Amino acid sequence: ECVPPVSSLAEGGPDAAVVIDVLRATTTIAWSLQNGAEAIEAFASLEELEAAAAAWPAQQRLRAGERGGQRVAGYDLGNSPLAVTPELVGGKRIFMSTTNGTRSLAAVKSVPLLLTACLPNRTAVARRLLDQECCRVWIVGSGWEGDYSLEDSLAAGAVASAAIEMAVAPHIGVSFGNDEMLAALALWQQWHLDTETCLRTASHGQRLINLGNHDADFACCAAVDSLQLVPFQAEPGVLKAS
Ligand code: MLT
Repeated sequence: ECVPPVSSLAEGGPDAAVVIDVLRATTTIAWSLQNGAEAIEAFASLEELEAAAAAWPAQQRLRAGERGGQRVAGYDLGNSPLAVTPELVGGKRIFMSTTNGTRSLAAVKSVPLLLTACLPNRTAVARRLLDQECCRVWIVGSGWEGDYSLEDSLAAGAVASAAIEMAVAPHIGVSFGNDEMLAALALWQQWHLDTETCLRTASHGQRLINLGNHDADFACCAAVDSLQLVPFQAEPGVLKAS
């Protein structure tokens, strides 16, 4: 299902959740881990982030804060996937809070299996869901401050499409619980050969373009299947590579 009501976590919720924030939190999380970060610790608020980071050895931590698409003043990083280079993040824990993506993570952190997806790792995530024989999966688009996000729905369709392509075994069926998921699949069919244009056209893409200095992020966020890594929640709020 796509973008479920978080309140239904209690009503026989999913056995897995996939959080998506294409522009840019889950793309940045994937690239941080790909480039050697020890872990990403995600926080809904900057206050929670500050308290946790203060208890971590200063030489092994980085603080990544983004609000409104811009880096929080005084933080080591904003939310660009291009900034998390191996030289900077290797071996470090990144304490991260963003406008939308880390809040989505906080909202579903009690599910049994929590993964993050983006366009670069959409096939790897789909393969993990099938390998784990997940029966009911929530795909959570982070959106923008509670509103619908075109790019997150595109990525939801990308993950679902990869699952359909791989679920060739007769005993594995892939069904979709709601119209949002069917719409996401249609988006993927429409844009899968030109994902960057979709991202630039989306309202948050336009917001980033208008802010300036984020243009190079689009190609990285749009690069379908450029990563094999699947971030998973190793403990509540802590994402590691798998
Ligand atoms: C986020 O990642 O939470 C937001 O989409 C903001 C951004 O990074 O531009």
